Order: sequence, then structure tokens, then C-alpha cells
Amino acid sequence: MQTPSLPVRDVSEFAADIRESLTKSAQRELPSKYLYDEVGSALFETICVLPEYGLTRADARLLQKHAGEIVGRLPGPLQVAELGSGSGKKTRWILEALAKRQKTYYYPIEISPSALAACEKELGQIDMVSIVGYEQPYLEGLRAVVESREEKDHLLVLFLGSTIGNFDRDAGEKFLNAVRGILRRGDALLLGTDLEKAVADQLLAYDDPAGVTAAFNLNLLGRINRELGADFDLSSFRHEARWNAKERRIEMHLRSLQEQTVEIPAAGLRVRLKEGETIWTESSHKYKAGDVLAMAARTGFRCEGQWLDEEWPFAQNLLIAK
Ligand SMILES: C[S@@+](CC[C@H](N)C(=O)[O-])C[C@H]1O[C@@H](n2cnc3c(N)ncnc32)[C@H](O)[C@@H]1O
Repeated sequence: MQTPSLPVRDVSEFAADIRESLTKSAQRELPSKYLYDEVGSALFETICVLPEYGLTRADARLLQKHAGEIVGRLPGPLQVAELGSGSGKKTRWILEALAKRQKTYYYPIEISPSALAACEKELGQIDMVSIVGYEQPYLEGLRAVVESREEKDHLLVLFLGSTIGNFDRDAGEKFLNAVRGILRRGDALLLGTDLEKAVADQLLAYDDPAGVTAAFNLNLLGRINRELGADFDLSSFRHEARWNAKERRIEMHLRSLQEQTVEIPAAGLRVRLKEGETIWTESSHKYKAGDVLAMAARTGFRCEGQWLDEEWPFAQNLLIAK
């Protein structure tokens, strides 16, 4: 049975983050990492199979086709860590390819307890693979993984699904630099990146006609109600996906449909929203294949291989720590 999702462990940290981001003067925000409670993680899994969301299928096709070659380019013994594994479905290709040559430890690092439980269930039965999950933020989890590794072990870190795109570009590079700082020379990072494509296709991927992405976005307000005692009326907000051409990113917002006041007791906050005002909840930056090579070079990696999907512009990038 799947472990039920628990509220975030540290309510005061959640409350402080919500307080800080919702009171920004120019544009109110909410941190995207809080989209993933039990409901949010389940809705994200549904988004991944929507016809309009080609990203996950592209990522999966590349892994299915090239997993053997990817692990074949890396020295053994190789252990695998994954940043924000989600349900881990796509990771099966990598683990099965590796299990043909060695016993493998797989370390999913996740802040969503329900996603971590789903991942352990999904990948728990592969011969020659042992799973040790870390319910921690990315870098904390990765530090814990490297601290426990043996001297002889090489590490392959997976960062799939273009989750890197949720960081602003500068923050994304800082993050890759921080990952590089934790790794040893020769360790590898397999980085999935969604590439620029027709704007209409990108918008549909984040605003599907069935309304699943809208529910995913609105659930963030529901989560704040459940865990921080707030009184957001979800029917007074509308999901919006926008293409920001200057920053080359999709932005998800929640638009207030009327002037309204919301109380968030655990954050000691009363928010007055104007009619039409938005709360910015997530960004998904898009890349050109060449951007990724330049970003890798600036953050202490060299690109060992780059594979592109033919149906949905997406790149799988195998980066080696220099
Ligand atoms: C966009 S989803 C991608 C999931 C999966 N990698 C995929 O490709 O389908 C991002 C995942 O990262 C997790 N996550 C978000 N922020 C995190 C953080 N700071 N530390 C650890 N996990 C995080 C979320 O819970 C979610 O499962």
C-alpha cells in the first residue's frame, strides 16, 4: 500500500515561504515546490499522460532508446541518484540497462512523500537494483548520498523531465554549479531539457482543455487552506498559462477573479487581492539545444552526449563533471 502523503514536516518553513512570496510588492508569487503534496503529485502524474503534454513521452522515448548507450559511456561501478524523481517511471530504462552489468543502488531524492512512495513501489522489483529513498530537498539529499558512497563508486545523477526549467536561468546555473560542487570529477549528470517549440503547442501543454493543469495549479491554494488554515475560495481564481517571449518561458499564474481578502492564520497573514491581479506559481524555461552545452560548460561539466527527440523537441544531455 502506498504511504499517504503527510503535510510538509516543517509548517513554520512553509508558512514563512508563503508569507515572503505572497507579500512581494511587484508581483505576488508562490514557490512551485509546494505544488507537490499528495493531490499535486497525483495530478502531475495525470498531466504526464495528457495528449497535449508531449514532454514526458519525449523524455521517456529518449531514455528507452538510448539508456544502454548512456550507461555504456560511464565507468563502473555506478550508483544512481535522482533529483525530484516523481513516480520514477522513466527511470526504469536506466536502471534496467545498468542492472545488466552490475548490482545497482538507486537513490531517489524527493520532497513529496507520496511521490517517493510511488517511486519505491514502481522500481522496487527490478532484479539487481536496491532503492534507498531520501525525503529531502535536492542538494541536502545529494550530499547525504555522496557521504554514504564508497570510494570506488561512480555516481550518475538524473535530473529528468526538464525540472531544471522551473529555476530562473541564473538560479538554474547556480543550482548546476552547486550540484557540480557536490560531485567528484568524472561523475555524471543526465539532464533532461525541454526545447523551444511553437508557442501554441507550449501553451496547450500548460493549459490543457480537460483542466488537469488548472486543477494542479489551483491545488496549491487548496494545500495552503489544508495545511495553514487559510480560506482561499478556489472558485474565485482562474488558472492562466502565458508565454514570456523575453525570458523564453511558460509562466503559470492564478488570476483573482474579484477583489478579495484571504486569511492565512498559520502565516499570520491577511492578503488583499485586487480583481485581475495574479499570483505567479511556476515557470518552465525552454532551451535551445546549444544553450544546454553552454550552460554545462559554465557550470563545470562537459557534454558527453546529447540526444534529441524527433516528435517533441526535447534534449537528453549527458554531462560529465570536469
Ligand atoms: C516536474 S516534477 C518531475 C518529476 C519527474 N522527475 C519527471 O520527470 O516526471 C518535479 C518533482 O520534483 C520534486 N521536487 C520539487 N522541488 C523539490 C526540491 N526542492 N527537492 C526535492 N524534490 C523536489 C517534486 O515533488 C516533483 O515530484
